[in-house]
Amino acid sequence: MPDPRQLLLDARRVVVLTGAGISAESGVPTFRGEQGLWRNFRPEELATPEAFARDPRTVWEWYHWRRHLVAQCVPNAAHHALVEFALDRPGVRLVTQNVDGLHARAAYDVAALRDPTPALPLELHGNLFRDRCTSCDEHGDHDLELGDEGSEDTADLPSCSACGSLLRPDVVWFGEMLDPAVLGEAQRLAAEAEVCLVIGTSAVVHPAAGLANETKRRGGRVIEVNPEETPLSAIADCCVRSSATEAIPEICRV
Ligand code: OAD
Ligand code: ZN
Repeated sequence: MPDPRQLLLDARRVVVLTGAGISAESGVPTFRGEQGLWRNFRPEELATPEAFARDPRTVWEWYHWRRHLVAQCVPNAAHHALVEFALDRPGVRLVTQNVDGLHARAAYDVAALRDPTPALPLELHGNLFRDRCTSCDEHGDHDLELGDEGSEDTADLPSCSACGSLLRPDVVWFGEMLDPAVLGEAQRLAAEAEVCLVIGTSAVVHPAAGLANETKRRGGRVIEVNPEETPLSAIADCCVRSSATEAIPEICRV
């Protein structure tokens, strides 16, 4: 097996694709697995446009719960090591499926010293802390509290400051398309990368899961960091079976 650290040192262009596993050691629940979010909730009841149309209050309550949960978490050693890696190496780009904002928080942790921009990730599935309007193009970073639980009225749900319509979390739900500009940029980065470093994803949700194949098809290498085997393991040149905080500070050391 090639040495993952050497593969990264030898590559000029590197794309890093992360999933929920990188935030697990920060205390953010993953989606699948023993303690996964989807074990306790049915995705079709909460993370679909149909669910929101039927019962926006319940969907908003779930997202508020997740916001509060994530707000109490902090970036871990793997997030921070990736910031150093991206700031130090101009050819490194981060792409994440996570909506928890922890990569950006890690990047801003160093903002007093350096411009964090190169360490900000492309967010494939949106961001938990951003809202968008269900009618117009308005986006915002609001974090409004909900009113009484169980009320039938939607008047106290977050509404758009521009047009008054209901706001929704700015995340991608099941059955929805990814933003074509964001996906296109991620596909370009994956295709041009000499190495795709995949961290903490079960690699079952497409199109994100297909990005590493893009790198591979163009002759690049794939490194997987995940304590468990995934469908990507078969095409990976190198599988590191450790947790993100154990593996990343070591293999991405600058
Ligand atoms: P999953 O919950 O499906 O997978 C998490 C992966 O992280 C698993 O393969 C674990 O083995 C691994 N893992 C757990 N702890 C880890 C650790 N400490 N270090 C490294 N790896 C660890 O999460 P995702 O693959 O990110 O989409 O899920 C993909 C998408 O499915 C999410 O973005 C979300 C969900 O539906 C949307 O909401 C659109
Ligand atoms: Zn609006």
